[in-house]
Amino acid sequence: MDVKFEWIEEMSVNHNILDEQHKKLFEKLNELLRAIVDGNADNMVQELVDFFENYMNKHLAYEEEYLKDIGYPYLQEHHEQHEIFVKKYNELKESCDCSANNEDNHRIIFDIENFMGLWLTNHILVEDQKFAQYIQQRNQK
Ligand SMILES: [Fe+2]
Ligand SMILES: [Fe+2]
Repeated sequence: MDVKFEWIEEMSVNHNILDEQHKKLFEKLNELLRAIVDGNADNMVQELVDFFENYMNKHLAYEEEYLKDIGYPYLQEHHEQHEIFVKKYNELKESCDCSANNEDNHRIIFDIENFMGLWLTNHILVEDQKFAQYIQQRNQK
C-alpha cells in the first residue's frame, strides 16, 4: 500500500518540535493503516492504535501548553477544535471492540484511522496554520 497521508512543507507551523510531532503522527497513522490492510495480527493493530492515541493526546496537550506560553490569543477556539476531535474519536472507538478478531472491527478501525488522517490533514493545514503565522510574527520581533 502506498503512503496514504503525508506531511508537506505547507504544513510547517514554524516550530521544530510541533512539526516533528505532526510528521510522527502521519508516520504512525500510515503504519497503522498498513498493518490493518496487510491483515496483521490484532495485537499489533491494537498496539499501534494505543500508541497513536497516546501520542495524539500528548501532542494536543503539548501544542496547547505551548500556545498558552506564547500568549496565543485564540487558544480557546483551538482547544475547542481539539476537543471536538477527541470526542468524535472516542465515539468511533467505542463503537468497536478492538480486541475481537473479526472483519467488521477491522473496517471500523480503518474508518477511525481514515477519519484521523482527514482530520489531521485538514487541522494542520487550516487551524494549526493560524497559530503558525502568530509564531512567525513573534520570531521576527
Ligand atoms: Fe497540531
Ligand atoms: Fe492543533
